[in-house]
Amino acid sequence: MNQNYKKFYIKTWGCQMNEYDSLMITNILKQNKKYTTTNLFYEADILILNTCSIREKAYEKLFHQLGRWKILKENNPNIIIAVGGCVANQEGKNILKRAKHIDIIFGTQTLHRLPDMINQRIKKKPIIDITFPKLEKFKNILIPKNINYSTSISIMEGCNKYCSFCIVPYTRGREISRPFHDILYEISRLVDQGVKEITLLGQNVNSYYSIDENGKKCRFSKLLQLISHIKKIKRIRFITSNPMDFNDDIINIYYNTPKIVSFLHLPIQSGSNRILKLMKRPYSIRKYKEIINKLILARPNIQISSDFIVGFPGETAHDFQKTMNIISDINFDMSFSFIYSPRPGTPASKLKDNINMTEKKIRLNILQNQIKKQAKKWTSKMLNSHQTILVEKYFNKNKNKFLGKTENNRTVIVKSNNNILGKLIKVYITQIKNNILKGKIIYKYL
Ligand code: SAH
Ligand code: F3S
Repeated sequence: MNQNYKKFYIKTWGCQMNEYDSLMITNILKQNKKYTTTNLFYEADILILNTCSIREKAYEKLFHQLGRWKILKENNPNIIIAVGGCVANQEGKNILKRAKHIDIIFGTQTLHRLPDMINQRIKKKPIIDITFPKLEKFKNILIPKNINYSTSISIMEGCNKYCSFCIVPYTRGREISRPFHDILYEISRLVDQGVKEITLLGQNVNSYYSIDENGKKCRFSKLLQLISHIKKIKRIRFITSNPMDFNDDIINIYYNTPKIVSFLHLPIQSGSNRILKLMKRPYSIRKYKEIINKLILARPNIQISSDFIVGFPGETAHDFQKTMNIISDINFDMSFSFIYSPRPGTPASKLKDNINMTEKKIRLNILQNQIKKQAKKWTSKMLNSHQTILVEKYFNKNKNKFLGKTENNRTVIVKSNNNILGKLIKVYITQIKNNILKGKIIYKYL
């Protein structure tokens, strides 16, 4: 390997969007030829921290990490340390006040400028750029090589909803959708590399909206349709949806677009209308149920997962019971559930937090146990059923066992003497053990 290469190491916290951003950083730096990636932080010339601030202690966690890296920098002052992500956007130059050894602070929308920022830093003082240049980041996307059969693509970013508890609108900026031509082009390039399943990413994918130079409009439902016309894309997922924008045009797409999986993550947050109001989530439980019922008409076997916030200020035992009721009514399969954490500058952080931590933990535990039980039931129902899996990996060294994923995200082991990597296969589920399913091949798709 070229000895002049500078090695960079990226540590990523947070959501899929951050994972995606880190992948973008990797591609952009690697394309620059001067840089190569390393998995070993102690041998890196450039240390990059991609932060998340959705829940508590983000700031403390950041300085803890920076403290560890400081020791490396004391041994080798040429090391460059860069901090990006949501905490960088939120705190900007404050970070430098507390951690003077930081070289670069970049934002969620300026990560593509990192190569330039590194060059400038080598010459002068610390660099801060946490601006929000519209779409510029996406113009710099490079399609990675050797990707998996299933991959993600960002279609929009930011959020205008301002739910009272959430920091995202402040750290990721206002909603901005990528032009649909760009998205379709990128997917067609990914398909050339063998991608079969695509996950559309965004803080709020249902609000996707773009107009091209000829005035042609594209909403989320249209985008789904256009993507489904790409022949080699066999499966479409998207995250995160939002009940407030999950309109009939999106629901109707489920009728005639079988490529969209029968599994939807649709965060409800709470089962109490009163709490939803305080959260500034403009839908009612009735409306949420209506959406699900319409979806079930289109897809009788659809499974739903959700995010929940437990212990929102003012949440009574009665409110919590309503959350438990909706959990069993909808029969959610899986959840991301968290104890409410006040985020600086958000309206909810000004509400009186009147529930003690022990009570919050008890509620979270009850909620998570219930969902675990339901998920287990959903899994056990799959015994002796037919499922379609996308085969993604080998399971053993002999290369005659493979791992595939069902539409509802269960892992299935199948045997085959032929190489079936990247194939969509119909299997019969013969066994379920510790949440791992075994299947027998029934039919191989091309
Ligand atoms: N756009 C999505 C949510 C994105 S944020 C939606 O509309 O639902 C991801 C999840 O983090 C949220 O669904 C919420 O459950 C959780 N979250 C956000 N802010 C939080 C906070 N202050 N405390 C606890 N959980 C929070
Ligand atoms: Fe956050 Fe609500 Fe937007 S949860 S990401 S402000 S939809």
